[in-house]
Amino acid sequence: MLVHAITTNATYEFAADVRAGLTRPGQKELPSKYLYDELGSALFEAISHLPQYGLTRADERLLRRHSHEIVDRLAGPVAVAELGSGSGIKTRWLLEALSRRQRTFYYPVEISPSALARCEQELRDIESVSIVGFEREYLDGLLEVAARRKSDQHLLVLFLGSTIGNFDRSAGVKFLAEVRRILEPADSLLLGTDLEKPGTRLLQAYDDDLGVTAAFDLNLLARINRELNANFDLRQFAHVAKINEDSRSVEMHLRSKQRQTVTIAAADIEVEFLEGETIWTESSHKYSAEEIPQIARDAGFRCEAQWIDDQWPFAENLLVAH
Ligand code: AVI
Repeated sequence: MLVHAITTNATYEFAADVRAGLTRPGQKELPSKYLYDELGSALFEAISHLPQYGLTRADERLLRRHSHEIVDRLAGPVAVAELGSGSGIKTRWLLEALSRRQRTFYYPVEISPSALARCEQELRDIESVSIVGFEREYLDGLLEVAARRKSDQHLLVLFLGSTIGNFDRSAGVKFLAEVRRILEPADSLLLGTDLEKPGTRLLQAYDDDLGVTAAFDLNLLARINRELNANFDLRQFAHVAKINEDSRSVEMHLRSKQRQTVTIAAADIEVEFLEGETIWTESSHKYSAEEIPQIARDAGFRCEAQWIDDQWPFAENLLVAH
């Protein structure tokens, strides 16, 4: 008998996405946003400390070194909205720099309530900064922030950590264009982008020896077991990272170690896996610094400035809405 564990709209949506992704013809897929439940967010935090994964440290180093320059380029009083704030640790540098010149409103937009709570806790000691968090999807949250803006205020939107890389390239531009539609001319977007690097370096970053990334990836199946009453045997799946040269991305997959059938009660499905068949769980696209201005133009922005880390190729790009 199938036992239904559906209790909320969010669970319905999760079940529908899992059903769609695992029953589609061809490559099975799961949306990467579901990697970030409470345990997944903690595992991602652990990834960001791995010596092999330099992305988060590069992002933070750039913000620490260049926050004053970034802030100096912003016109007028500015309110800050951050899409996917996570724990907010690296945002401190920008908020401190801004708060020296003005009282600052900071609006973190985050779907994870625990990350949002941690962010508020982490940053609440900065003087002259008021924090109002929104537990929302990015664009819904940004719309609410825009509705609160005062007439003389500009918005600075932060989209850090190369989260843009987890969108397909064209979906990434479309998303930036949607952000632009919510903004006014002269508002800005600080966009973090991970840059291209040798494949060996990327494979070490996305398939580390300690197995933290593998645990992060496998937790998606564990989450489906927990929330959708499924019976994935985690030991029968292995994390795989591979380079896709065509899309200039690293892909994460979960490979079935044997032929097996999995029941996902709350999605009302039984899924057959062949030995070696994979579920595609995430893509992380890499960029060249030179292509960012064109991406910005396609989305309705001008790339005003770019800062590149000297240890891990990563760029912070300041885009201005025109
Ligand atoms: C959140 N995002 C930018 C990370 C990335 O590098 O694409 C997610 C991640 N997946 C595995 N390791 C890190």
